[in-house]
Amino acid sequence: MVSVARSPGDQQLPKHVAIIMDGNGRWAEMRGIPRVEGHRRGANVVNDVVKAAHELGVECLSLYAFSSENWSRPKSEVRALMALLSWLLPKQLEQMMAQGVRLSTLGDLSQLPLRTQKVLHQAINKTQNNQGLHLVLCLNYGGQQEILAAAKELALQTLISNDPQSFLAQTHLETFRAMMWRNELPVVDLLIRTGGEYRISNFHLWDAAYAELYFDAVLWPDYQAEHLIAALKEYSNRERRFGLISAQVAPHE
Ligand code: FPP
Repeated sequence: MVSVARSPGDQQLPKHVAIIMDGNGRWAEMRGIPRVEGHRRGANVVNDVVKAAHELGVECLSLYAFSSENWSRPKSEVRALMALLSWLLPKQLEQMMAQGVRLSTLGDLSQLPLRTQKVLHQAINKTQNNQGLHLVLCLNYGGQQEILAAAKELALQTLISNDPQSFLAQTHLETFRAMMWRNELPVVDLLIRTGGEYRISNFHLWDAAYAELYFDAVLWPDYQAEHLIAALKEYSNRERRFGLISAQVAPHE
């Protein structure tokens, strides 16, 4: 296990680390090569980061691999990203099995090419009983779309309930979250974005309410275990107050 230095007031490792893997295109453009090469290099980095997260003891790692809005990119880039996924997953399967990684997805898979869906379902089924890191690939995912889907589910459940008024009165934040695609995921503790930009880009909007945000200038294809360790160290020194004041959350002597 890689050690993350501790200091007074440190908290546990984040249970759920989410990463916006940004900068593939710029990485390639800076080298005068096609953007797709940046994605290819970025896909290889995923392997190393999964391994590092596993060794660091992170419970859940979610990666923003394709947003609901990414469909509007040039067709050739979308095709290349889908092909990369289909190529990467079978290649990673052996490592995932060896490390006990369990794969799942977040987002609407039904619009993905059938070949990509098939490869994903095979990997999800094969790794379903693994007990190690939970790796969540966010594909055709959008935070606004996820909240809208939950709102529709709430409306539907309200309509068919015997007592709509009390059903709604009994719907709290937790019960609403349970209607979301993320219902089986731990709440995001640490949200990292690479590539030097300061946006959430429709990722994990619900959990972003109190996630710690960490922006790293490094472009995703250059991301290494040391960058993840730096983010975890910074997280361990943050005070998470969830709207309270410091005296209420500070550990007692
Ligand atoms: C953002 O970089 C990255 C993406 C839209 C795709 C992320 C995909 C990968 C890392 C590779 C495939 C991943 C898996 C899990 C198979 P950008 O293209 O927006 O970069 P830019 O901001 O420099 O243009």
